Amino acid sequence: ESYFSQHLLLRGRKVLITAGGTRERLDPVRYLGNDSSGKMGFALAEAAVQMGAEVTLIAAASSLPVPAGVHLVRVESAQEMYGQVMQHFDQTDYVFKAAAVADYRPVVREMKKRKKGSERWVIELERTTDILETIGKQKQHQFVVGFAAETEALEHYAMDKLRRKNCDLVVANDVSQEGAGFNSDTNIVSIYGEEGCVLSLPMMSKLEVARQLLKLAMIRKGDQG
Ligand code: CTP
Ligand code: CA
Repeated sequence: ESYFSQHLLLRGRKVLITAGGTRERLDPVRYLGNDSSGKMGFALAEAAVQMGAEVTLIAAASSLPVPAGVHLVRVESAQEMYGQVMQHFDQTDYVFKAAAVADYRPVVREMKKRKKGSERWVIELERTTDILETIGKQKQHQFVVGFAAETEALEHYAMDKLRRKNCDLVVANDVSQEGAGFNSDTNIVSIYGEEGCVLSLPMMSKLEVARQLLKLAMIRKGDQG
């Protein structure tokens, strides 16, 4: 194979990636967030651009620089991310849902900064829409990859998410392991398909994980490049 065919395997393909941690507002100055750094999703965006793809990155909170050549859509909440994913979903070939999406949001969002007063503040939360589950139900030609960050029973939860959300692959990592955490530059992942674990990778940079994952996705989709 020539240099170019190896490096531009995803030429003409549209890749949609979500990254970062969503924020659910309590008031104009406060929110509920999570520890996602966005590193895995941004690495995927960078790797996909290098492979010649047209990349849309829907990014919630993350302070990382945006890789050159990526079409960036900034969002804050799970609901905004949901809206943007649905807008782009029809035209995409691959979806990678690396974002850490809030499972719950405050029922009430106050429009003015809440003043200190009472001894207790009880916050009521309601479920957000599960974006991956929604696109899993609607998918046609799209190849859909979910992510699962777990602290126990990796295989069990990964397979459960794969089936429940109708994903083509689930990328699972044990976030309690050294070198696989939320803000780490490296990751240790196991990738699951309908038949079980299809690839276990040793510790490597998130960019290298991204490259391996993109190639695996192409093979599983039957995409000849
Ligand atoms: N996800 C999503 N929308 C949500 C919650 C999660 O699209 N509202 C996606 C994530 O982006 C990820 C996958 O679903 O690709 C798995 O997320 P995870 O939090 O591990 O799974 P949950 O189904 O939320 O289960 P739990 O948090 O209880 O483990
Ligand atoms: Ca969750």
